[in-house]
This record gives sequence, structure tokens and C-alpha cells, in this order.
Amino acid sequence: MSHNLLFYSTETYLADLIDEILTLYYSTQDNVQKILKTHYSKTDRVKVHKSRFTFVIVNLIQNALDAMSKIEPSRREISISVYQEGAKVYVTVADTGCGIAQEDLIKIFSQGYSTKRNGFGFELNSCANYTGEMNGKIAVSTQGIGKGAEFKISFPTKRR
Ligand SMILES: Nc1ncnc2c1ncn2[C@@H]1O[C@H](COP(=O)(O)OP(=O)(O)OP(=O)(O)O)[C@@H](O)[C@H]1O
Ligand SMILES: [Mg+2]
Repeated sequence: MSHNLLFYSTETYLADLIDEILTLYYSTQDNVQKILKTHYSKTDRVKVHKSRFTFVIVNLIQNALDAMSKIEPSRREISISVYQEGAKVYVTVADTGCGIAQEDLIKIFSQGYSTKRNGFGFELNSCANYTGEMNGKIAVSTQGIGKGAEFKISFPTKRR
């Protein structure tokens, strides 16, 4: 982690921070609130830069919303989970949207890759950079076209 980011990072319960983010950004957006589901289990705190982490979560939610724009509203769902395994805390953001072709998975974090008419393709690249700067990792998986996508972020805890 760079010195700056380390300095401005704080030990945080990610479930609490995510709740704050959801309130801040979506409490007045009923359509989003309706489809957001959170699943939290008890975890240790991890060191994150609050505004960078917020950027990551908000962009993953925006991409999930975009991916579900063409499916029936009643089938739209974004599940956000927080859990711990050993010395890692995981955050997953999963949607029920258009999914990703297997051959596109490798391109998804690269700068400038976008399948949207007005997309820049910069945000997932920034999400990956910010996560890396916070000593975290981000990965994507999909069950295939039409079957949704899941982004998984992991952060190390102090526990060994
Ligand atoms: N949840 C998702 N489901 C399906 N495809 C996704 C999902 N998230 C991202 N993608 C794919 O990854 C591409 C890159 O995403 P990224 O957020 O970097 O750029 P963008 O959303 O296209 O544009 P912008 O830079 O304005 O956000 C998207 O265009 C889309 O093809
Ligand atoms: Mg985007």
C-alpha cells in the first residue's frame, strides 16, 4: 500500500461501511433499494481507504444495475455479502443480469474495455487499482451469458 493510502486508511468493519454507503447513495432510490439484498456474517476489521472502497462498491452496483437493465424488473437482484475465511475478509457483489462471455472475463479489468454505448471502460480498471492499493484483490466470475455475474473482493486481516 502506498504511504498516503496507508495513512488515510482506517480499521473498518466492512459490513458497517457498506450499510453507510447504501444509505448514503440509495436511500432515496426505491427501485435500487428494492433489489439490494445484504448478507453479513461476523468478521474482523480490515484496513481500507473509505472513499476508495466507496468508489469500488458504488461502481460495482452501477455495473450490476446496467447489466440488469434489460431483464424483467421482478428478476433483478443485487446480493452483497460480507464474510470471513481465515485471515481474509470477502465482499461479494452478485447480480442476476446479462452475465459475461467466458472469453471476455479476461478483458474486464483492462482500461478502456466497455460494451456500453456510452461507456468509458475506466471504472472497473480503477476499482482493480484501488483494491490493489489497499492490499486487496478483486476477481470476477459468471455462470455464463444471461446468468449473472459476481465480483469478489478480498482484504487481509491482521489475524494469521
Ligand atoms: N455486473 C456485470 N455484468 C455483466 N457485464 C459487466 C458487469 N460489470 C462490468 N461488466 C462489463 O465490463 C465492462 C467494463 O466495465 P466498466 O465499469 O469498467 O466500464 P463501463 O461500465 O462500460 O463504463 P464506465 O467506465 O462508464 O463505467 C462493461 O462495459 C461490461 O461489458
Ligand atoms: Mg461501469
